[in-house]
Order: sequence, then C-alpha cells, then structure tokens
Amino acid sequence: MLTGKHIILGITGSIAAYKAAMLCRLLVKEGAEVRVVMTPLAKQFITPLTMATLSKHPILVEFFNPENGEWNSHVSLGEWADMLLIAPATANTLAKMVTGVADNLLLTTYLSARSKVAVAPAMDLDMYAHVTTQQNLRTLAERGVAIIEPEAGELASGLVGKGRMAEPEEIVRQVEALLCDKKRLAGKRYIVTAGATIEPIDPVRYITNHSTGKMGYAIAEELARRGAEVKLISGRTNLDTPYGVERVDVLTAEDMYNAAVECWADADGGVMCAAVADYTPAHVADHKLKKSDDDMHIELCRTKDIAKELGATKESRVLVGFALETDNEEFHAEGKLQRKNLDFIVLNSLRDKGAGFRGDTNKVTIIDHSTKVEHPLMSKHDTAKVIVDKIESITLNK
Ligand code: C5P
Repeated sequence: MLTGKHIILGITGSIAAYKAAMLCRLLVKEGAEVRVVMTPLAKQFITPLTMATLSKHPILVEFFNPENGEWNSHVSLGEWADMLLIAPATANTLAKMVTGVADNLLLTTYLSARSKVAVAPAMDLDMYAHVTTQQNLRTLAERGVAIIEPEAGELASGLVGKGRMAEPEEIVRQVEALLCDKKRLAGKRYIVTAGATIEPIDPVRYITNHSTGKMGYAIAEELARRGAEVKLISGRTNLDTPYGVERVDVLTAEDMYNAAVECWADADGGVMCAAVADYTPAHVADHKLKKSDDDMHIELCRTKDIAKELGATKESRVLVGFALETDNEEFHAEGKLQRKNLDFIVLNSLRDKGAGFRGDTNKVTIIDHSTKVEHPLMSKHDTAKVIVDKIESITLNK
C-alpha cells in the first residue's frame, strides 16, 4: 500500500519511542522509504543503531555532522517527503510545532515540510487532557496536521487513561488512509445525530438510554477525514469531539429535532445515529417531585421522529438511519427504511455479541432498497468506514 512513498519518521523523547522500531519496520514492509529524524532526547529512549538498521539509512539528529561539517538539510528532507510522521509526539514537540520553535532538526523539518504531516501523541493522561495540549492539538488539526489519537490504557507511569500512543498497526493504517486519501467528500455537508437524548421529569430526574454515541462519533470523524463538513448534533456522551467536526450539543429529543431540521436546510446528507427518546414526560415539574407511599404515574407523550421528518424533505439527498432490534430484526429494519424514506439502514441486533451499546465493536447488516449485506464483527471505526464508503458512493452517483 505504501510502495514508493517517502516517509520521514520523527521520533521524540517519549517512552513510547520503543514502538517506533516496530512502526518503522511495518512502514518499510508496506513498501515505504523511511528516513528517521530523532530529537536529541529521543536517543535516550531508542538507539540510533536500531532505527538506522530498521530504516536502512543513517538516522538524523543534528543540524550538521561536527566531524566533517556535513549539513543535514531539513529543506531537502521536507521536499523529499510524502509524509512527515511524528510518532511518538510529546506535549513539548506539539507545543513547539504550534508556536514555530525551531530548535532541533525535527522541528526545522516540520517547518520546511510541504508534505502531509501526522502526529501520534504519547504522554501521561493529565498532560494529554491538559487544556494547553488539547488546544495545541486543535490548532494543529485546524492547520491540516492529522492527529492519530492516542489510546486509553495503562501508561508508563502506572496510571490508567488516555495518552498511550496508538499501536504501530493502527498508525500504519491511518498513514495509508491519509496518503491514499482523495478527500472525495470535499465540499459536501453532512449532519450526524449521535448519543442519547435526556428527557427531564423534574430538575433532578430524567429518562434516557444506554447509547454512548461512539458509532455516530466514528461516522462523523470518518466523514470529516474524507473532506466533508460535518455538523455533529450530539446528545449526552463522554466523547471528545472528533477533529475537524463542528459539534452542536443538545439535551432533549425536541432540541435535537430543532437543531437537525435547522442544519438539514443546507446539508447534502444526514446520518441518524442518535438514540432519540420515543416518549418524553408530558409535563416537566419545576420542583423536585416528592415521593409518597403511593405509586407514581408519569404521563408520557410522543416525541417527533427526526429521521422521518428529514426523510420527508430529502429530495435527492442521502439519508441513513440505524435500527437497534431485539427480535424480527430485518423485518423491523426494512419497515423503518421505507417509513423514514432512508437510502439505507444499518441494523444492529442486541442478540449479537459485541454489537450495539457501549462497546468499541459492532456487527451490522446494511439494508438498502435492493440489497442486504451482513458484515462481520468489526471495530466501530471500521464499521464507520463501511458506512461512509456507501454514503460516498451514493453521494457521488446522485
Ligand atoms: O423508529 P426507531 O427509533 O427504531 O428508528 C431508529 C432510527 O430513527 C435511528 O436512525 C434514529 O436515530 C432515528 N430516530 C430519529 N428520531 C426519533 C426516533 C428515531 O431520528 N425520534
């Protein structure tokens, strides 16, 4: 997949530098030509000999060789590369990239690079979550740097959280996607609904459901990666906004309906991934309801069906829905496909292990008006790719 691609692998001073050896090997195995640039501190974490052997070229650290004065030209390196990949990228290097500090060969190479740039951050969870680091990542993303998000898990400090560099296989997958990326959805606008709505009963209690929003967020991210403008209308979730996506936070089904209808006016398509409450309390008490010894009955009234409303005004636009079923799955999904005037519907069955709420995987069947394709258990990111592939082909063939 990477045959003939020129990749500068930048390594900074993080314990995750040990993974750079495997990353380099995988890039070379995929056919890339790799030149390694290390920051001076990175040499403390992984030896130049290891990286030179794996990349089949001497590694570069200094601006020039003090023995013979030979200049390591960051300008020609920057011109040579199809991609500058900094993995691991420390909080320090990210901050310097934002401000334009150029005190080592890797940073001067970054400033000279005309190629795509990707960073795979690696740091402790608090450093990663720090407002400064998050702001720096956002700034870099706005300037076109691809962020390969770290994973959550056990960190070198022993703490557990988000900050562990993505695994080499995942980095290679994202590099391939970026280098082969044609941004085929550039100029297209989509709305994605995601997460659970919250229907207040009183100032303290509410009705909601188990949706985490992961599937919808993965779809929004994938659409944005392909160049689309994405408005993510989000109910309650704990997820970070994907890079390059505009997020509109809403609470109730009514709020989500209003936001979706408003954004639909100038959209090219929509993906209805949210778990919208079907019923909402008819009256919201303005004070905390007091308990008594009697049972309580809450009167519920129907919410508006967002997908159905958008389907009614769809015209030639693309509209995708989800169906989460527990029985007679395909029958119910096909009914929704018709009733809501969708182009296709993504069916998950709660009977399938690894599908539906909470997890990072999904097992879906994609049903359109003439075909039904059952997919194996996949990560939600891979499921998002399959869904966005179909959206892309419908959009580009309309
Ligand atoms: O009818 P049901 O809720 O099972 O349909 C699920 C699909 O319809 C999902 O795509 C969901 O996001 C969407 N939906 C909606 N507004 C509602 C209820 C469901 O957009 N009020």
